[in-house]
Order: sequence, then C-alpha cells, then structure tokens
Amino acid sequence: MRRIDQATVQKILDAADIVEVVSDFVHLKRRGTSYLGLCPFHNERTPSFSVSKTKGICKCFSCGKGGSAVNFIMELEQMSYYDALKYLAKKYHIEIEEHEMSAEEREAANKRESLLAVNDFALNFFERTLQESNEGRTIGLGYFRERGINEAMQKRFHLGFSPEGRTTLRDEAVSKGFKEEFLIETGLCYRTDRGTVHDRFRGRVIFPVFTVSGKVVAFGGRTLRKDKDVAKYVNSPESVIYRKSYELYGLYQAKQAIVRKDKCILVEGYMDVISMHQSGVENVVASSGTSLTEGQIRLIHRFTENVTVIYDSDPAGIKASLRGIDMLLAEGLNVKVLLLPDGDDPDSFAQNHSSSEVEEYLAANETDFIAFKTRILLEGSGNDPIERSRVIQSVVRSISMIPDDITRTVYIGECGRSLGIDENVLRLQVAKYTAERREKEARDAERARNRVAAGLPAEPAQDDVVLQPSAPVRQAEPAAKPMNKFLIPYERDLVRYVVKYGMMYLCDCQIDEAGNTRPMSVIEYVDRELNNDNIVLSDDAFRTVFEASLRVASDAWMDDWTRFSAELEVKRAEMLRQGAERIRTSAADLSNLDALEQKMSEDVAEEIAAMADDFCQRYISKHLVSAIDDVVRTVSTDLVAHKHQLSKIHTKYAKIATERERLAELVPHAVYNLKEALVECDIRNVIENIREACKVNDIKRVEQLMLKQAELNEIKKELARYLGERVLSPKR
Ligand code: UTP
Ligand code: MN
Repeated sequence: MRRIDQATVQKILDAADIVEVVSDFVHLKRRGTSYLGLCPFHNERTPSFSVSKTKGICKCFSCGKGGSAVNFIMELEQMSYYDALKYLAKKYHIEIEEHEMSAEEREAANKRESLLAVNDFALNFFERTLQESNEGRTIGLGYFRERGINEAMQKRFHLGFSPEGRTTLRDEAVSKGFKEEFLIETGLCYRTDRGTVHDRFRGRVIFPVFTVSGKVVAFGGRTLRKDKDVAKYVNSPESVIYRKSYELYGLYQAKQAIVRKDKCILVEGYMDVISMHQSGVENVVASSGTSLTEGQIRLIHRFTENVTVIYDSDPAGIKASLRGIDMLLAEGLNVKVLLLPDGDDPDSFAQNHSSSEVEEYLAANETDFIAFKTRILLEGSGNDPIERSRVIQSVVRSISMIPDDITRTVYIGECGRSLGIDENVLRLQVAKYTAERREKEARDAERARNRVAAGLPAEPAQDDVVLQPSAPVRQAEPAAKPMNKFLIPYERDLVRYVVKYGMMYLCDCQIDEAGNTRPMSVIEYVDRELNNDNIVLSDDAFRTVFEASLRVASDAWMDDWTRFSAELEVKRAEMLRQGAERIRTSAADLSNLDALEQKMSEDVAEEIAAMADDFCQRYISKHLVSAIDDVVRTVSTDLVAHKHQLSKIHTKYAKIATERERLAELVPHAVYNLKEALVECDIRNVIENIREACKVNDIKRVEQLMLKQAELNEIKKELARYLGERVLSPKR
C-alpha cells in the first residue's frame, strides 16, 4: 500500500485553505462571511456553490456536492484520497516521501490512472527529447526558434519533440514497464495492419494538452514538413481520460490570469496561445481549431463571465464562428470581439508587436459582440432588403440567447437604435425565439423521458464530463429495523453537536466530595451520558462518526491543544506589548494611562479567549471532514454544512443567541431527547408484545408487560420533566 505518514497528512490538511483550493477551479466572489461561485459539479448559470473559509468546507446548495478541500479534489478530479492529498501537498509545496510503484501496484492501479501515467511518461519523454537529444535540438528546437518561441514558453507549455524513429517512444515506454495496451489507448501509439505498434507523433513537435488541474490528457503534434499531403496537426484520439469538447488548450496556464483580469481571450490555435503568453497576455485559451462546445464554455464560465474572441480578419472564418458565439451568450457570458489587422493572426500579431502594443491594441479594439455581428452581416448584405431582414433576425436571435433580462433589454434598445427598428417589434421577435427554444427543450425532455420509460439507455448528457461520475461515496446504509428510522433524527442532532462543537467547554462537572470541579467538553458530556445508560447509537453512519470523534478527541487533542496554548501565550504577550506601545505613543494625556492599559489588556484577553474557543470549536470537524473513511468524511461534512434552524419560539426574542452560545442548554436537550425517543421505542415494543400476548391469551405475560409499560411511562415522564427545565446552568 502507498501511504503518507499521519504527521504529513495533518500538515497537508492544515495547509489546505478551502478558498484557495476551490479558487483554482471556480471563480469565487465574496458574499458576507462566505464565498460564492458557479458549481463545478453541475451545470448552472446562477451561483449556488458556497465556500466557507471558517468551516473549511464547500458545498453546492443546489446539487449537494462538495466537502473539505480533500473531498472537493477527490470528487472534482476523480482522484483517490491518497492522490487528492498528493495534489494538495504539491500545491502547498509539502514534501511527501513516496516509494516507486512496484510492477504489481502498477497493475492494480485502475485504468484511468494508468492512462494518465503513460501520458505523463510521454510528456517527459517528448520534453527531454526536444531539449536534450541531438535530433530534438536540431530539428525541434530549431523549429521553435524559427517561430520565435523562447525557452520560458517551451518550459511553461512543456513543448516537446517526438523522434523520427518508428518505435522510439514505444520501446522506451515498454522497457519502463508501461503496457502497450495503454500506449494504444492513449493514442500515443497505434497498431499497424501488420500488427506492429508504432509511434503516432513521430517527427513532430509536440503540444501537450493539460486539464484545468494540470494533468496531461492529450497531445497535438505539428508536422515540420511543408508538403501538403501530410496532416498539419495530429491530435490524440478521445479516450477515457480525454474528451476533446471538454478541454481548452492553455487553460491550465491561463486560469490565474483569467481570474485576475476577470476575462478570457479565445483564439484558435496552439501557436496563438503560446505567442500571446510570450508577449505577456496570459489570459488566453484555444478551442484547438474546432468550434466551441458547451462543455468548453462552461469551463470558461467557472473562471470568468467575460470573454473576448479574437478573429483574424478572414470574413468566411468569422461568419462560420458566429454561431459558436450565440452559445457563449446563452451561457450568460459577456462577449466581446476583436478583429486583428488584415493578414495577422494572434500568433503573428503577438510576435511582431511589443507586449504593450498588444495590450493597447486589445484595449482599444474590443467591440461588443452584438454590435460587431450586426456590422459584419450588414456589410455583407448591401442594400438587399431580404438580406437585411435576415441579418436583423439573426442578430435578434443572438439577443434572445442572453439569459439576463436587463442585459437583454439593453441590447434590444441599442439594436433598435442602430438598425432603426421599433424596439417593440424587436421585443416581440425576441419573445418568439425564446418561446420556440423553450418548446424545443420541452420536446427534448419529453423524448428523454420516453426513452427511459421504454427502458432505453438515456442519451449521453452534454455535461457528462463536468459532472464526471461521482466518486464512490458510500451513502449511509438504510437502517434495517424500522424503529431505527424513528431514532435517526435524534441521533443526527446529537452527533451534529459533537462534530461541530465537540471540544468546546460545556459545563463544569464535580470531581470529588469536596465539591471541586473541572471543565467538561461537549463530547465528554455526551459520551458520559450515553455510557451511563448503555446507549449505542443505532444508525451505523452516525455511530461511526461519533466513534471517530471520540478517537480525535483522545488521540491528538492533548498534544495539539498544548502546542496551540503555547502559541497563544506568545501571541498574547506580543499583543500586550503592541497595545502598551500604542497607548504610550498615542495617549493624549498621561493621567489615564492605567485605565487605558487595563482596558487594553481586557480586550486582549477577550480576543485570546475567542481564538481558543475557535480552535476548540473547529477541532473535531476539521479532522473529520478530511478523514480517509468515506462515511466519516461525507456524513460529517453534511452535519457541519447543515444550517441549523432556530425554532420560531426562540426567534421571537429580540436577541437571538447563537447555537454556540446556547450549548449548555441545547446539548443536554439533544441527549435527553434521544433518551426519550429510546424509551418511546421501548414502549412501542412493549405494546406490540402485549398485543401478541393477548392473542395467545397469556395473561401472566400481559400482566408483566403492563408493569413494564407503566415503568417505562414513569421514566418517560421523568425525562419530560427534565427536558422541561433548563438542564444545566452555563457557568463560566
Ligand atoms: P492553425 O492552422 O491556425 O494552426 O489551426 P496554428 O496553431 O496557428 O499553427 P501554425 O501557426 O500554422 O503553426 C488552428 C488549430 O486547429 C487545430 C490545431 O489545434 C491548431 O492549433 N488543427 C489545425 C488541427 O487539429 N489539425 C490540423 O490539421 C490543423
Ligand atoms: Mn498560426
């Protein structure tokens, strides 16, 4: 087994900031105490993916996916727990020791991982060949130099070269233990008619294609020959790891710049992306020659709402791509268009201008897409009224794609003015297109339903890859006994308090006859209460989570707390020192220095206490939401994410105490509610048994059972009385 030692695991989990981790994939905006973005797990246009920095979890309140940083990576990237940790370690530059995989382990690794591993090997191989081999340096590097691509860009895009030899890559891969079958499946090699296996990209310079998280899923190979009878580019075929319509070339390298500039520039080819980067414009991606797909558009939308499409001024090309842009609009993106000077493409333009010239040109020449489209089409239509009407319809169709009402209305107004058409006419036309589309969607949905009803497989959904088959998250097993079901809400409530507040102070408990007390934590109280009555949680998932909490509380807590308190003391001293300094340098007169210092040290004490509280509060959940056990991780995440509804009675009061402030009242209630429910269960059982005994006329047993029932009813009353009062008075 591959393992990372516990200390390192903890280091990684501590370093992983949920907001930073998610931001690599989702463009987040701050909303109060949390962050909000478009959910990467399902298709949506209004953000419902929420990230809580303090809780350390993210959650889509529409589709429910999310979790801790580890869980997020596991689900999004379809990684194992181990690989997600490795990913985070890499992100935070934390060393982990890892031994080389043995042949058996390689065999055991699943196919996806194998294909990625093969690609990773090939990436290195191509890169090494380009930079180090004679052949690579003279032919490959020679070519990139001629195209003006500098060394930094070669490294950044991991450009490579595939040797001329028919089987050079294959031979080296096989000698390293990679299977031919995987070489073929990734498309790096192919089997000839004679059954031999050859390299696909031989003699070509290589452009690796990375996923948004930096995994190599495909390669593009450009020929260096000028003759027209070879394909200019050869690309990896689609495979388990590569779906062309869901990848964008350059996104991995561009995503930070896209977020920073809140804009994504769209170009056509590999070389365009690289030359633009080299000129300093880094928020550039390419759809790689094909027209844009919905999957690619959604990928962009995860990072920004603003897209600029760059065209070289070839009218046929522009017209052909206008439709793709309607999809950008439909996705709710703001689309601008930029036309390059005659004869230039982004590559040549970037190569022939300084980076400030490129930036300036971009800033000065971007135009709104609708206006651009109107102009381009009108130019082509001359004065022909029929042609003109066609243009107007096409523009109106584009406008009708815009989901946002206000934006759409603004466009209708502008379009009406520039075309000299009554706005109301345009509005009606827009409504007509919208209605047509709705009808079509309804028809499609109907067809899908019919397929399902007829037992046919559903048509593959467009967003399959974004929604990748979710990680094998084991759901809590449904309870076997029906009585358990009745207990579940109570057990959930109790375990929720333990996970969310377990290490927090709850009350003082007496420890000897003399009346000495010591503080007791939430988890200790709950554990003691359950033990006293021999209660074992009936629900498997909640029991597992509870036991995991107990382990966290007993294993690492003492050490961690000691260390944290020591740190706090250092902090306290530093805060006091700074406070005193501030007072000395800013106090107006010297008479009330003492009072000021007194006040300051009270403030510091309060702040330090709050930090200690926070540490305690987060301690258990922080461990559980990143635990290796699927049940522990997912169930505890749900518990932490759950928004507790304060009952109406409480919200009537002017000041609503937070749950955290009311633990001394709420936790004992949760315990006693569960106990009451258990007694209720027993009573129901007894009643059932009485019924059975009556049927067979076993009077003696009926009498016994009725006594038992009376006894239980007493206990229940007792508990009810207990619950009616405030159980503990919070002392502090
Ligand atoms: P281009 O022909 O514009 O390629 O095609 P380029 O990247 O600018 O390359 P240079 O400048 O001629 O060297 C645009 C994109 O279309 C895809 C590639 O992704 C290319 O980057 N394409 C093109 C292919 O996949 N196959 C082809 O045969 C041609
Ligand atoms: Mn080109």
